[in-house]
Amino acid sequence: MGKDTLTITDNRTGKTYEIPIQYGTYPTYGASIRTADLRQIKVSEGDFGLMGYDPAFMNTASCKSTITFIDGERGILRYRGYPIEQLAERSTFLETAYLILHGELPTRKQLDEWTYHITHHTMIHENIKKFMDGFHYDAHPMGILVGTVGALSTFYPDAKDIRDPADRKQQIFRLIAKMPTLAAFAYRHSLGMPYAYPDNDLSYAGNFLNMLFKKTELKYKPDPVLEKALDVLFVLHVDHEQNCSANAMRSVGSSHVDPYSAVAAATAALYGPLHGGANEAVLRMLREIGSKEKIPEFIKKVKTREALLMGFGHRIYKNYDPRARIIREIARQVFTVTGPNPLLDIAIELERIALEDEFFVTRRLYPNVDFYSGIIYEAMGFPVDIYPVLFAIGRTPGWLAQWQEMLTDPDQKIARPRQVYTGSDHRDYVPIELRR
Ligand code: ACO
Repeated sequence: MGKDTLTITDNRTGKTYEIPIQYGTYPTYGASIRTADLRQIKVSEGDFGLMGYDPAFMNTASCKSTITFIDGERGILRYRGYPIEQLAERSTFLETAYLILHGELPTRKQLDEWTYHITHHTMIHENIKKFMDGFHYDAHPMGILVGTVGALSTFYPDAKDIRDPADRKQQIFRLIAKMPTLAAFAYRHSLGMPYAYPDNDLSYAGNFLNMLFKKTELKYKPDPVLEKALDVLFVLHVDHEQNCSANAMRSVGSSHVDPYSAVAAATAALYGPLHGGANEAVLRMLREIGSKEKIPEFIKKVKTREALLMGFGHRIYKNYDPRARIIREIARQVFTVTGPNPLLDIAIELERIALEDEFFVTRRLYPNVDFYSGIIYEAMGFPVDIYPVLFAIGRTPGWLAQWQEMLTDPDQKIARPRQVYTGSDHRDYVPIELRR
């Protein structure tokens, strides 16, 4: 192999430049140049220099990160080096949250302390209930979540001290602990039901089910299969490197605002249908197909561009999304408790047909995380508009890990992209009576 540099010849001037190439963990995945090195390429002394133009960051790394690795070609997802399959099978959401934030799996003592702190920060100030009551009865729970998590910043003014690691830790406990409480209260508000308070005897997922579904019983007992399934679903959503909401978290957090405001921004990014809403669309699509016999007819519509096969395709994965494979298995376990869901049979048959069809094969379209998750959520009794809220709870540790890594990275500054200006050149103001 030759030198780790790139030689660029500017044909406008005939000058040649040599730019270093830098690497991440893998030499064949993530080699890059610093686009700031392009600034030396100028046609004249006063020239600003060359920039990279990359709308939507299609080929721009905005950071170096040690948190999550995705190889979309091979369908690999790892948190801190650990394969998602192993974490889904052997870890728990709180342990994975610890891993994603600290970089290492906890010892027994560390995990006990971590679990204790998160369990003991689940309560929210009673005043939050008052303004939650102000939302209309049919307010979308995600809208309520964006508003209330942002409002937490007014209850914790100490959170502004983002440079203090101990202070950051305190806000991390609070955010991971309080997101399910806010989400469950938003759900119960939409039903007009009294809020159910956290139960510290239950697991993270079990307590969330308690706050959602507890009725008149003195003590809510979550079904262990459903509790485990929800915990695994949270594990699968913990992080997905520089996606839209993680980028929002980093970008907004780079102004050094408190983490509640930054998480509100990330939650808002997740709310959009291009990011957190596809699982709901899958459910509607499966209901519309209605039976296995109608699948070929539906596939025909997809191929003539009259419909999209929702839950298929991904910007990064050009292989089976590893999370979809795990969710498909959890779905089977959930249905042993909730009874069979005919939508699962339709989904499995749809997947089988699509994966053998030349249209999907040549475009490398495989099931993504959303293909099976909506079916499970429906079976567990969640209404569709709470699906993105479930995603937000699972993703909160990932957002916080991205935020913390950004704050402690000496390369990072306030996020401020450049632009290529294409508007008018200088012109003088025209008085209104002279304008035509
Ligand atoms: N059904 C039918 N055709 C599809 C689908 C699909 N689900 N997805 C992609 N294609 C086709 C496109 O029409 C295109 O065909 P062409 O080359 O003949 O024009 C080709 O496959 C490439 O697709 P793009 O749209 O260029 O891929 P892109 O990376 O821009 O889009 C996306 C990815 C948005 C996820 C797309 O696959 C899609 O719309 N899928 C359905 C929605 C969905 O499931 N979203 C959830 C994604 S996972 C998540 O965000 C959590």
